[in-house]
Amino acid sequence: MSKLLDDIIKVSEEAGRIMQTAKRPKVMEKSGHANFCTETDEKIQAFLIEKLSGLLPQASFLGEEDGQDVFTSKMSRGYCFVIDPIDGTSNFIYSYHPSVVSIGLLKEGKPYMAVIRNPYDEMTFSATAGQGAYMNGEKLLSSDAPLSDSLAVFGTAPYYTELQDQTFEYARKLLPLCVDLRRSGTAAWDMCCVAMGRCSLYFEMRIQLWDYAAAALVASEAGCSVTDIKGDPLSYQGATSILCRARGVSEIPKPFLTD
Ligand code: IPD
Ligand code: CA
Ligand code: CA
Repeated sequence: MSKLLDDIIKVSEEAGRIMQTAKRPKVMEKSGHANFCTETDEKIQAFLIEKLSGLLPQASFLGEEDGQDVFTSKMSRGYCFVIDPIDGTSNFIYSYHPSVVSIGLLKEGKPYMAVIRNPYDEMTFSATAGQGAYMNGEKLLSSDAPLSDSLAVFGTAPYYTELQDQTFEYARKLLPLCVDLRRSGTAAWDMCCVAMGRCSLYFEMRIQLWDYAAAALVASEAGCSVTDIKGDPLSYQGATSILCRARGVSEIPKPFLTD
């Protein structure tokens, strides 16, 4: 493993400890229904920026909680850390685990390294482009089971009200094609679950770059196909729909092709 990846993993583990030991955080509302941020999100983001810029001083940052939430052309040059200090903030507020720390590193606008830390289960996912994905040092390979023999997960961000009917329509059509549906509350964790074979498909109608920058690399390095919902490549420049399929789901399932 490279020293840089090892160092990012250590930073993610410290950040995970801040999350896990935080007491009753003050909750702030962002725009839209049930779109929250807490003091702990801000504290972890500040911690990540301080520590990660120490590791790679030339890197720029795109983070959810500090106003740098617009992808700029500067971020597609050199190194750019894309961080979500707490993916699963509502889970965090309601103690409904998991929530994860997500750290993606882009190089020339393309996914280069990824680390995702789930402190509650002591699980660290990591990946480097072209070099595979790992969980606590063990190589990951997504499931080769067919969808009919697998769980599927989906995301329903409550603040994008205009996407709800379509989201639940896809979910309704997907349910008879799989064993059952799940909803975890963290997009990064959903993709880690597809990467490690707990489920075989994840979809969501809109997620942000900090939700997928790390997890999409972990999943694709574990053999998953990670595209937008129509099967086109991810932009790595901002919000997108997402469809993450394990090895056993080689075709895009019908519900996503019909609308
Ligand atoms: C959210 C979670 C959720 C997904 C939303 C994201 P946050 O991130 O990943 O699972 O459905 O689209 O915004 O707000 O908890 O960091
Ligand atoms: Ca997020
Ligand atoms: Ca977040």
